[in-house]
Amino acid sequence: MNAYTSRRIAPLLLFAFLLFLATSTAREAAQPDTPDQPHLRSASESTKWHGAKQKASGGNEEQQNEVAESVKEATALLRKVKPPTVSKLAHYTRKPKGFLGTSAYYAKEAFVLLFMGTPNQANLLTTSASTSSSSQPKLAPPLSRAVKLLQEAAQLGDADAIFLLAEMNFHGNFTHPVSYPQAFQYYKQLADLDGNSTAQYMLGFMHATGLNPDVPSDQAKSMLYHTFAAEQENTRSQMTLAYRHHAGIATPRSCDEAVHWYKRVADKAIAYYRSGPPGGHVLSKDSYSLANDVRGVYGEGASVSSAGIHARQGGVTSDAYADAEDVLEYLHLQSSKKDLKATFGLARLHYDGSRGMKRDLRVAKQYFMQVAREYWSESGKIRKDVPGGTEKLASKAAGYLGRMFLRGEGMEQSYSKARIWFTRGLANGDALCQYSLGLMHMQGLGVPQDTAKAADFFSAAADQDLAVAQTNLGMLFLDQGDVVTATRYFELAARNSHIEAFYYLAELNNQGIGRDRSCGVASAYYKIVVEKAEAVWASMSEAYEAFEEGDEQKAIVTYLMAAEQGSEMAQANVAFLLDHTKPKWSPIAWLLAQNRNAKTAVGDAALALIYWTRSAKQQNIDSLVKMGDYYLSGLGTLTSPENAAACYQAAAETLQSAQAMWNLGWMHENGVGIDQDFHLAKRFYDQALETNREAYLPVKLSLFKLRWRSWWNDVTHGGVKSMGSDEAPAKRRTFAEWLNDFLEADAQMYAQEYEADDWGRGEEEEQQRMMGSDGGEFWDAEGEIDDDGLLETLLIGGLVAALGWLVWYRVQQQQQAAEERRRREGVEMGGLPPVPANAEAQPQQAPEAAHGQQADGGFFPQPGDPNWGAWVAGGVGH
Ligand SMILES: *[C@@H]1O[C@H](CO)[C@@H](O)[C@H](O)[C@H]1NC(C)=O
Ligand SMILES: *[C@@H]1O[C@H](CO)[C@@H](O)[C@H](O)[C@H]1NC(C)=O
Repeated sequence: MNAYTSRRIAPLLLFAFLLFLATSTAREAAQPDTPDQPHLRSASESTKWHGAKQKASGGNEEQQNEVAESVKEATALLRKVKPPTVSKLAHYTRKPKGFLGTSAYYAKEAFVLLFMGTPNQANLLTTSASTSSSSQPKLAPPLSRAVKLLQEAAQLGDADAIFLLAEMNFHGNFTHPVSYPQAFQYYKQLADLDGNSTAQYMLGFMHATGLNPDVPSDQAKSMLYHTFAAEQENTRSQMTLAYRHHAGIATPRSCDEAVHWYKRVADKAIAYYRSGPPGGHVLSKDSYSLANDVRGVYGEGASVSSAGIHARQGGVTSDAYADAEDVLEYLHLQSSKKDLKATFGLARLHYDGSRGMKRDLRVAKQYFMQVAREYWSESGKIRKDVPGGTEKLASKAAGYLGRMFLRGEGMEQSYSKARIWFTRGLANGDALCQYSLGLMHMQGLGVPQDTAKAADFFSAAADQDLAVAQTNLGMLFLDQGDVVTATRYFELAARNSHIEAFYYLAELNNQGIGRDRSCGVASAYYKIVVEKAEAVWASMSEAYEAFEEGDEQKAIVTYLMAAEQGSEMAQANVAFLLDHTKPKWSPIAWLLAQNRNAKTAVGDAALALIYWTRSAKQQNIDSLVKMGDYYLSGLGTLTSPENAAACYQAAAETLQSAQAMWNLGWMHENGVGIDQDFHLAKRFYDQALETNREAYLPVKLSLFKLRWRSWWNDVTHGGVKSMGSDEAPAKRRTFAEWLNDFLEADAQMYAQEYEADDWGRGEEEEQQRMMGSDGGEFWDAEGEIDDDGLLETLLIGGLVAALGWLVWYRVQQQQQAAEERRRREGVEMGGLPPVPANAEAQPQQAPEAAHGQQADGGFFPQPGDPNWGAWVAGGVGH
């Protein structure tokens, strides 16, 4: 069957499956660029400026007033623009949940993909249709009128109008279509007009990332604009400069410069923290690792760094739990069974909020009250005959209730009521109560100021390892000039990652107080301080919301800003979103990825590689392995198996990435980028399995194949170091010797087989042991397959089968096209030699003749083969 027919038929197959859903599936009603009102053509949307510095003629007040008036009118008009309404269906399909939700979601994706001729999303940033300057979007009436007014005002040099237009073009406010070239021009106009630092920052950002396709990225200009803006106290530019000096990006590494800029932002971060109610602003963490949603960039279990020992750490409020609802439900159930711990947990969950769940202080108060009332009656008397342990939980609840009164959270601020609760909890030695009373005495809140008393309270709480109390105690010691004791307390508090403790440690290191000055430590600590106060410099929650709503472009750009400012989490997220090679977690997404791959030029991949690299440099092991993948398959860079091997080796050395170990094993087996060596190959395969049990199947398969190859190598006296022993020097053999070799090698192979079996049994026992004892948790966490999940899996499986061969054909076809394109681009880009696009051109085939190396037997796809990335990446852990 030829490829053309396959392309026709496969969608039809799918269509049959999806029909019932597809009929009810519509594209989201209100997409910004397809308003359904009658269109009015914006008159001068593309008007270019002739002379950007055209200013309002000075002194003409009347005219200025007029301009201000029209800007006001435009703003009023804009307020009338309704935000895009999200249809019920869209809401339903936004986030796959349960069986129906998931299928609807996939149905929509597949439908749009296959039948709607959806705009190609390849290169979200570099070639997306909406970023091209040539498009002339039609605007809905109120918007177009407002834009027109603003444009007139902008031409007369009204800063507010220019700024608003720039923002609308950049962020797409008021449903205005996004146009980076337009935004760039407006920002440039504004920066030239009055040196507005926000505009300068934006220009710096756009120059750095090449977001505007008309202006290629230029790091020198970027540094220039960021420096201008930073000098004018633009926080984001300050952070960008700090990070660039810290990591040596586009400028030589300079610790002093990094500290200089980081300190300026850290001062703001601390000021922000302290500007809050007693006890400081809540520093909510809105940056989530998107990869964690799918249990790491390589899927579940592929890497300890993403899904092993680091996964599911922390309490119920940790973001390791993607679905707060499940936790809530469980706690509700337990709580209704009079489980006081669960009630307290509910209270904490509502008080702290968590990912996917906003803080709800009112509800939190109710639950805290419920817990406290178990121990204290309405009149404050201690109840008799309470079960053991109640007083502890009740005191904790009292601490929180007091805190809420002290800070006026969810209720009116009342120092006296706060004090009552704290005093109650104090009787049972609750740390939060101790600390809070200390705080009241230190700042004289509702009580006379008394530093000595405060120190006593803090000290009691600090002994219970309450970080914030330790910091405060440290501050008191520092006031007394006892730097040594103060430092000790700061270091204790820093273990629990308290922002002020890091700040003081950074200051002490920076100024060399009580120690030698250490610039490196200072900048690292300042960086931590700064990054804890996300609210000061980033809009992480905005990015996450955009991602949740499926607005990938907005999510990427927003994360990109934070990534430029040095946030590792954001860097990994940007790379993750730009990464088209990922073994996607859904077949449709995978299909999309295949589709994109074919159309992807250097653009996104190069950008993704940059951020994988930056994230890897900040100790993200998964990103390091990803870097290796990109080098291996020549994505966004020239193919370099050596670099790939170096990345994998560095990652494997941390003993955290089973994926890296497996890859190294594979490279040793096939002699890609490193010497072919079956012995080492086995070692790495084994290590991968040791690191991660879920790698069992792929590792076993690989070992099986390796064993045969090693055996064949022994028999034929190949040049590769065998898997078993140190090899004997090759010599010409008699037939008898050959036979002997054959038998020995044979025996060796069986010995290994046996050994392996033995070992396999050991593992089974191990698993049984785990199931038997505390294994409940193990299986709860990993093996939970409810009915929905099972059905889902089956259905998805069917879908994959239906789509699989379609994709295969497409890939085959598009490979050629992609290579052609890449070659052409290589030529267009001048300096770069054409990048070999696929396996056939890759070097690991070349040495085969020369060194007597074995070519891969073909058990697995070749690197560079589009299947390879998906296979390798999906292989371990699934
Ligand atoms: C930049 O200009 C806009 C519009 O006039 C203004 O609202 C904003 O505050 C300015 N930013 C700074 C940092 O001056
Ligand atoms: C436009 O949207 C961005 C991002 O959503 C926001 O930060 C900015 O304040 C908005 N600007 C205006 C003028 O509403």
